[in-house]
Amino acid sequence: MRIAIIGAGNMGGAIACGLAQSHLTETREIIVANPHNEKLRKLQARFPDIRVTNDNKEAVRGADIVIVAVKPWKVKEVLNPIHPQRPQILVSLAAGITMEQLAQYVDPEMPIFRIVPNTAIDVRASMTLICGRNASEEQTQMLLNLFNEMGLAMMVKEEQIEAATALSSCGIAYVLKYVQAAMQAGIEMGLSPANSMRMTAQTLHGAADLLLANNTHPALEIEKVTTPGGITIKGLNELEHAGFTSAVIRALKASR
Ligand SMILES: NC(=O)c1ccc[n+]([C@@H]2O[C@H](COP(=O)([O-])OP(=O)(O)OC[C@H]3O[C@@H](n4cnc5c(N)ncnc54)[C@H](OP(=O)(O)O)[C@@H]3O)[C@@H](O)[C@H]2O)c1
Repeated sequence: MRIAIIGAGNMGGAIACGLAQSHLTETREIIVANPHNEKLRKLQARFPDIRVTNDNKEAVRGADIVIVAVKPWKVKEVLNPIHPQRPQILVSLAAGITMEQLAQYVDPEMPIFRIVPNTAIDVRASMTLICGRNASEEQTQMLLNLFNEMGLAMMVKEEQIEAATALSSCGIAYVLKYVQAAMQAGIEMGLSPANSMRMTAQTLHGAADLLLANNTHPALEIEKVTTPGGITIKGLNELEHAGFTSAVIRALKASR
């Protein structure tokens, strides 16, 4: 499976690194195109077998999957000259560019996927949303397998992508904001910033693992730590008095 990645920025670079570490493709089958060499040199320094080029057409020639990881306003100018077509598969990361719009720049009958990773793709822990058109079950499964190598991938309907993006892409900032707030509290209570960060991040990690491993509801996990008359319920009620739930709902709806 030969994979071309157009754009070696935050997302394209992280996907290239993630794929290079996966068992789904050989590193030498990954080719990354970018106009400037600095990012390409960094990629090759880490994974010498990754192939790189400044020529998008060269990258796409012979590729089975073409991943477009340029800014949304560059998608048209990038896709028009390379014009991917069947049996290739197009994968776009461009926020806000619909599959209908993408189909105007490529073979309209080709399989097209829109994907929305989050920045945790850099450490292969992304929540990646995927929606597709003209794709067989086998192609869809292949995309899921690819992005499951870099975290958790999930199929969503295109009309749900904005809501799902608010939860996963913007959501990572809100979760980090919680960590930052918890660190401020920890520091005020005499803990070091570094330890406050590690304690909060690991607690978050554990909470997420509990939910994902047990496929359970947060209320059930919260109940386990809220002794009647105890300290946790006092804190939880303080959060509610300060409008925590409402603030989270408003933030996510504002990000849609
Ligand atoms: N960042 C996020 O959290 C996030 C999440 C989900 C989706 N996305 C989407 O992912 C896409 C990429 O975002 P990003 O954050 O990775 O942007 P980025 O860091 O700016 O990367 C874009 C890359 O595209 C390269 N590029 C520009 N023109 C090109 C061309 N004509 N041909 C080939 N490459 C070209 C740029 O090269 P130079 O800089 O060297 O000129 C840069 O390396 C966007 O469409 C964004 O909507 C981002």
